[in-house]
Amino acid sequence: MYIEKHIKVCVLAQNTMNDKNFSVLQNCKNAVITGASSGIGLEYAKQLATKKINLILIARRKDRLEETCQELSNAYDISATFISADLSKIEEVQRVCQEILKIAPIDILINCAGFATLGEFSSVSLETHSQMINLHINAAVSLCYFLIPKMQEQNRGIIINVASQGALVTTKGNSIYSATKSFLVTFSEHINLELEKTNIIVQALCPGFTKTEFHHVGHFSNFDSSVIPKKLWLYATDVVSTSLAKLEKNKVIVIPGLKNRLLVRFYKSFITQSFIKYKRKKVQKELMSSKV
Ligand SMILES: NC(=O)c1ccc[n+]([C@@H]2O[C@H](COP(=O)([O-])OP(=O)(O)OC[C@H]3O[C@@H](n4cnc5c(N)ncnc54)[C@H](OP(=O)(O)O)[C@@H]3O)[C@@H](O)[C@H]2O)c1
Repeated sequence: MYIEKHIKVCVLAQNTMNDKNFSVLQNCKNAVITGASSGIGLEYAKQLATKKINLILIARRKDRLEETCQELSNAYDISATFISADLSKIEEVQRVCQEILKIAPIDILINCAGFATLGEFSSVSLETHSQMINLHINAAVSLCYFLIPKMQEQNRGIIINVASQGALVTTKGNSIYSATKSFLVTFSEHINLELEKTNIIVQALCPGFTKTEFHHVGHFSNFDSSVIPKKLWLYATDVVSTSLAKLEKNKVIVIPGLKNRLLVRFYKSFITQSFIKYKRKKVQKELMSSKV
């Protein structure tokens, strides 16, 4: 009897917690998600569909978007449409913005489309760097630029810019990727400040290694992802549920996973930074003495 009562209380508490976590989503009706044909973007689409939020999905692969729209609209009785576009092309971004403005008042904007490269700055083509800058920065900024005034008019909205843990730590071989993701973090912090007196929530999501297609496409098509320790991998389902749950806290930078939060904290600590500086100075000294 006692155990039964205890279980009921726990279930009730769990339900209340879930309701609370998702209460900011309760009044939302329409979401735009870029990068919705796979991975984290697709997972946002699935989780928002379960909340009965209508979807406008954007990516290049039309067949994938079509299939997802059909599946989610049938399963959850929502409207799900898609726009197939290459968001690394400025004219395509403009077309998408104009199309979205015609569709419906948007409550949620998730800028998730992205890719990474392998190799140091000068070994990657300038064309690829420009495509990344256009996709990560121009597309996200343009969609925010067109949708924020609409959200201000309705005094309601959620903007999630999917950045990366790479925005918070400095590593070799990620110059443009990390720089564009850092842009998204700084941009999110600044628009959040400008929107602080509104009901618009801004989040910069900074995931670490996540099991998606990310490490299997483009430069990564021959990449052996088993070199990344198993314990560091996250699943898109957890990344997205953390992101949505954290909306309630109105915290701009969200790093899913305790290990990843600790890693970033460790990296930014005074001891680690001092050690990195010491190592760099040592390398420079050795280089100078070898030149003399
Ligand atoms: N997975 C990770 O380890 C990880 C870690 C940190 C941050 N992230 C970030 O998370 C976001 C989602 O990545 P993911 O892990 O879900 O990878 P993913 O499975 O490869 O998904 C990437 C999405 O972006 C879309 N996309 C790529 N280039 C595009 C373009 N030119 N125009 C329009 N859409 C484009 C892809 O669709 P199409 O190919 O159909 O266009 C796909 O839907 C990215 O911004 C990534 O930087 C990922």
